Amino acid sequence: MSDAAVRAQALERLAEHLRGCTRCPLSEGRTTVVVGAGDPDADLLFVGEAPGANEDRTGLPFVGQAGKLLDELLAGIGMTRDQAFIANVLKCRPPGNRDPRPDEIDACRGYLEEQVALIRPRVVCTLGNFATKLLSGRPDGISTVHGQPMPIAFAGVPVILYPVYHPAAALYTRAMLGTLQDDFARLPALMAGAYPDGAGSDGAGTDDAPSPSIAAPVQGEPDAATRQLGLF
Ligand code: URA
Repeated sequence: MSDAAVRAQALERLAEHLRGCTRCPLSEGRTTVVVGAGDPDADLLFVGEAPGANEDRTGLPFVGQAGKLLDELLAGIGMTRDQAFIANVLKCRPPGNRDPRPDEIDACRGYLEEQVALIRPRVVCTLGNFATKLLSGRPDGISTVHGQPMPIAFAGVPVILYPVYHPAAALYTRAMLGTLQDDFARLPALMAGAYPDGAGSDGAGTDDAPSPSIAAPVQGEPDAATRQLGLF
């Protein structure tokens, strides 16, 4: 059996285990565990925040309005979602779509680490604040770091972390769409192994400032309501 097939089998065993997970109280209110979906051998892993109502019902990530926009953004760079793997920080829906809590993130973190270790993506594209802060290990918000690739190690796997706004941000603040499209436009080159000058070459924790060439301008100021949603 090929190495990729062995890793795909291990991912399926992880999914089986996850479906019975009771590590945190979110297990009590869920309909399904949203493990993630896509190509287990993908070069590109998206990490969102947590399942919403549609995802909880179907067991699939990003199937609501934000998912539709994610599909459109992917189409804009000539990709479909089955060419990537899509996962979330939390695998179970927080009640009322509230923000993930630190204890829930801690309880679920090991599962994302296993997914990264098994998929071994080249690029991990974090969607929004929660995924970005978890993967980077830094407090810097998505408004500051979006569009700036940084080499990190997560679960011991060297990857290029590439934070972008959560697609839901563009549903609330339409001006964000252009920024998301601009940031997505850099994904193919990153997946092909191109690292921008100044992105740092010494692994996680580099304090290098991003080069001006990769720092995307924010095209719209998030409004107060969107800030309250934690999308920025
Ligand atoms: N938002 C997320 O962050 N993840 C999903 O799976 C759906 C919406």
